[in-house]
Amino acid sequence: MVGIGIVGLGYWGPNLVRNFNAAQQAEVRCVADRDASRLAKIHSLYPAVDLLQEATEVFERSDVDAVVLATPINTHFELAKMALLAGKHVLVEKPLATSRAEVLELMDIADQKGLQIMVDHTFLYTGAVQKIKSLVDSGEIGDLHYFDSTRINLGLFNPNWSVIWDLAVHDLSIFDYISSGKKPVAVSATGVSHTQMGIEDIAYITLFFNDSTIAHITSSWISPVKIRKTLIGGSKKMVIYDDVEPTEKIKIYDSGFSVSTPEDMHRFYVDYRFGDISIPKVAQTEALLGVANDFVAAILDGKTPISDRLSGLNVVTVLEAAQQSLQQRGKTISLV
Ligand SMILES: NC(=O)c1ccc[n+]([C@@H]2O[C@H](COP(=O)([O-])OP(=O)(O)OC[C@H]3O[C@@H](n4cnc5c(N)ncnc54)[C@H](O)[C@@H]3O)[C@@H](O)[C@H]2O)c1
Repeated sequence: MVGIGIVGLGYWGPNLVRNFNAAQQAEVRCVADRDASRLAKIHSLYPAVDLLQEATEVFERSDVDAVVLATPINTHFELAKMALLAGKHVLVEKPLATSRAEVLELMDIADQKGLQIMVDHTFLYTGAVQKIKSLVDSGEIGDLHYFDSTRINLGLFNPNWSVIWDLAVHDLSIFDYISSGKKPVAVSATGVSHTQMGIEDIAYITLFFNDSTIAHITSSWISPVKIRKTLIGGSKKMVIYDDVEPTEKIKIYDSGFSVSTPEDMHRFYVDYRFGDISIPKVAQTEALLGVANDFVAAILDGKTPISDRLSGLNVVTVLEAAQQSLQQRGKTISLV
């Protein structure tokens, strides 16, 4: 059994408590939050779990092997570092930290101590993303031409971190996963704030690669309409992933184009192909349970988790550059 301590019981933390409670070979031993009413709610559901106030109290417990951090973004680095130095494996909520340098430091400490550090990129564990990954890996989609993702709704404003750190993190992690870690060479981002806080609540990120792949991500907290739609276009087929759809989340379009260049090089012909549209069945299991089981397997068996630290590093690297670009009205930031 892996003894688990969970810090942060706000919006997301209780989901982690529920799923670690259901995970195999894990036992939630304690939870911590500075807010007594949040502790009381967990106590009513899980009376055997010890209640603590401060994260540091969790790190001191000898019956805790692994810590799960569901605290605000700006606390991730400091708390994860403290937990690792206290000898605990760590699962950090997305994003893993707020800069590439911080992630590298955490990876370094984890290596020195022989501990796991993992990030919760929940979407990677959904049946839909697993299906897309298998379609890309099997070659069915062909070469990746574009990834175009929109994640907008009336969201909870974060007072300190722009919308990309909250929402684009999901799309970036999905792209990183399905493309097997394809590295962008540059990033450009634009966005604006509609509040006095000056924190961008709507943003558009473009990722450039050293081939003709392009990725574009739209993030917004200010849309009254909820859209969670990703288009993944390849040289052979195109996939639409609509996460708002209750069951038919993925549609595969067997359509495309081919270009032929005749002898006269100043002209070219485009042939369009319109084939079938298919709707594959996708697994409906709860993604967060997959995250919890993967973390425990990483600790017990040394298995590399799906949402591993490199996924965390790649996502934070792009977010950091995108934030720099946002502040310079879309200036292209090189990543090489
Ligand atoms: N994976 C997902 O889909 C998903 C969804 C939502 C949020 N999140 C992530 O979860 C994290 C938390 O987000 P949230 O919306 O639940 O935040 P929240 O503000 O609702 O809750 C954070 C909680 O942490 C507690 N806390 C902070 N510092 C503490 C400390 N040192 N000791 C004890 N308690 C402490 C606060 O009292 C608060 O209750 C963020 O990183 C966010 O990005 C992930």
